[in-house]
Amino acid sequence: MPDLKRKMIVDCDTGTDDAVALLGLLLADNIDVIGITSVHGNLTVEEATANNLSLVHFLGLDIPVYQGCPHSLTAGLFPGRTSNTLCQTTRKEFDGKPLRIHEPSLGLPTGGRTAEKEHAVSYLVRTLREAEEPIDVCATGPLTNIAAAFLLAPEIAQKIGTLYIMGGGIHIGNRTPVAEANFVDDAEAAAKVMLSGANLMIGPIEANEAGATYTPEDIATIEALGTKSAAFVGALLRRFIWRCDYLWKPGFSLAPYEIDPDSSCCVHDWAAVAPAIDPTVVTDARAEVCRVDCSGGMADGQLIIDRRGYFTAPNATVVYDMDEKRCKQLLLELLAKY
Ligand code: BDR
Ligand code: CA
Repeated sequence: MPDLKRKMIVDCDTGTDDAVALLGLLLADNIDVIGITSVHGNLTVEEATANNLSLVHFLGLDIPVYQGCPHSLTAGLFPGRTSNTLCQTTRKEFDGKPLRIHEPSLGLPTGGRTAEKEHAVSYLVRTLREAEEPIDVCATGPLTNIAAAFLLAPEIAQKIGTLYIMGGGIHIGNRTPVAEANFVDDAEAAAKVMLSGANLMIGPIEANEAGATYTPEDIATIEALGTKSAAFVGALLRRFIWRCDYLWKPGFSLAPYEIDPDSSCCVHDWAAVAPAIDPTVVTDARAEVCRVDCSGGMADGQLIIDRRGYFTAPNATVVYDMDEKRCKQLLLELLAKY
């Protein structure tokens, strides 16, 4: 019997929404996650590694976790290129400590699992070089590990089936008016990956919001599944909504982790990887010419789409819209399994 599962490596800065994306991929029958690589971003790379190990343990799986780069390619080298580690620590305090947007720990035990000794970048280069069939890669954090791997071995871009990326916005940003967090957290890396020749599928802010904005009602539907992973994701998203409201909603005064019925959160990374499990979640995807600005000015980290149509050939597929019902149903089907 041929192995119908597609091999995949997941590169992530887990992280709230990364955790949901990774769980979904690990639970999918048609995907064989062969390795997980962690990267700086939402958290320190060490925290992301521990969270990845804990998710593998939670599901009782035996998948290696490799620790990757602790900061962006050019951190500290010139103005504006500071290390983004802990940049998501906010000025607002909670429990006597600065509140971080993403909880440092997912609160799951690692069961004594530890990361592999090999560096994530070396693992990516070795595995893709040796691959006899295409391996898909999902990247839901800053693209530092992926860009470093392409720098060491540009030819591996051709060994990737599809490189699913959570990054950029079509018309908007979230970290800056025009730049999305993953791209601006390592703008040089994102710019390099755009030019790598890999088959790119980009899930930008707007598409993710269309497919994966979770309301308290959606969370209750998840929790009603009654499985361990549904309980974990439900509680995680409740805490995430509370944290975001505590940080940004004027006059917010609800106790932890009571959530406002009118609030919601976008689970970006889930939306960006869902097409790898079921392409029908995408309702509008377009071949585009994509670049990322890394000139250090106001547009630093911005995804720039050249729609003039005559300049150069498209280098990426950009998701513009998603089937919200199918995207949410898919997550329910996966979380129902464990
Ligand atoms: C992206 O940045 C991170 O905060 C999330 O995990 C997601 O990958 C959204 O801009
Ligand atoms: Ca992420």
